Amino acid sequence: MGSTHDTSVQTVVLGITGCIAAYKACELTRALMREGIRVKAVMTEAATHFVGPLTLRTLTDQPVAVSLWDDPGSSPVHHISLAEEADVFVIAPATANVIAKLAQGRADDILTTTALATEATLVIAPAMNTHMWRAEATRANLQTLRDRGAVIVEPESGELACGDVGEGRLAPLEDIMDAVRYELSRSLDLSDRHVLVTAGPTYEPIDPVRFIGNASSGKTGYAIAEECARRGARVTLVSGPTALSDPFEVDTVRVTTALEMQAAVRRAFGDADAVIATAAVSDFRPEVFSSDKVKKGEAPDSVRLVRNPDILEGLGEDKIDTVLIGFAAETQDVEQYARLKLESKNLDLVVANDVSVPGLGFGGDMNKVILVDRHGTRELPTASKRVIARSIADELSRLLCERDIRL
Ligand code: CTP
Repeated sequence: MGSTHDTSVQTVVLGITGCIAAYKACELTRALMREGIRVKAVMTEAATHFVGPLTLRTLTDQPVAVSLWDDPGSSPVHHISLAEEADVFVIAPATANVIAKLAQGRADDILTTTALATEATLVIAPAMNTHMWRAEATRANLQTLRDRGAVIVEPESGELACGDVGEGRLAPLEDIMDAVRYELSRSLDLSDRHVLVTAGPTYEPIDPVRFIGNASSGKTGYAIAEECARRGARVTLVSGPTALSDPFEVDTVRVTTALEMQAAVRRAFGDADAVIATAAVSDFRPEVFSSDKVKKGEAPDSVRLVRNPDILEGLGEDKIDTVLIGFAAETQDVEQYARLKLESKNLDLVVANDVSVPGLGFGGDMNKVILVDRHGTRELPTASKRVIARSIADELSRLLCERDIRL
């Protein structure tokens, strides 16, 4: 997100691709500008055959990017500055070809390069011939983009430029506007909040080379940390050992054991508005740590374990008005156990999943969760961990607003 531009005005970067519906991008530009949104247009070379850059330049009162080799004026690397300025990146109309390139992460023109570099949500409004829209490849590419968090504004049915009648016509302007308004409203809804996230497993050492741990990958917690940061929050991520890199713009504190995680969480808890505890904290640790490697000939028949503190439960006991969100990984009676955790740990929300379902939850990229709070239970559809992270950030935003009203 932009740190180098005037943040009092929100910026939509509008990508226009080569399709007969390109002229509708002009109407979209005007509609966005009527709402006080700054629009910066990026066009593929093909798009310029359908609508002139000068038209967009005049409508937006901003330079229009059409080539990686443009003279960008103030910024030395135009696609990166555009990527950073975008609060939302809309591509309307989006052709099948550009959708395929986005799905593959290709970056061979200024539009796809900017799209690859941006942290902003992509809102994609496809427009194409019905057969291209229905093609298996297009379906798969769109699903890939959805799983990565893009919002697809589905085309409507009607008469197409090629004479066919069917699905593929650019969605009505108002549908695209609704999606953009919604994404703009989420783009900064966690500003000025401090969110503390725990993630990953903890490792409890037996000796210098052996430990008790679990298979948590940390992906959900990292995706949540990243999503909250994108939406304007100051984020502290306390992470057990994972193979993941530190998320952008997140203060990441690496720990190994549950006791270290507890200490790091306690340090950050004081001024946190919310805690999202995704970590799979080991409930036990070996009573004794051997500073020398235990030789197999001398291995004891059993390892005596002692309980680790329940970090989240401790926060629940001490909290005054901090929003607490916990996770529950269960294999049976998921909702019932989740509700018990909501009560016993004094939480505002429990995100629960059934870890016995193959392919979902631990380690994978997809998950299916239910949200349990004092209002009731809601089931979210199976989705990528990134999409689930977005729903959890939505819940967090709602809970923080409810808290503000109470205070
Ligand atoms: N949690 C924690 N500290 C622990 C254990 C759990 O902070 N020592 C947090 C997790 O990050 C998660 C939630 O509490 O948000 C999970 O609680 P729970 O399911 O009670 O942990 P389990 O150990 O799985 O409990 P149980 O075995 O009773 O299901």
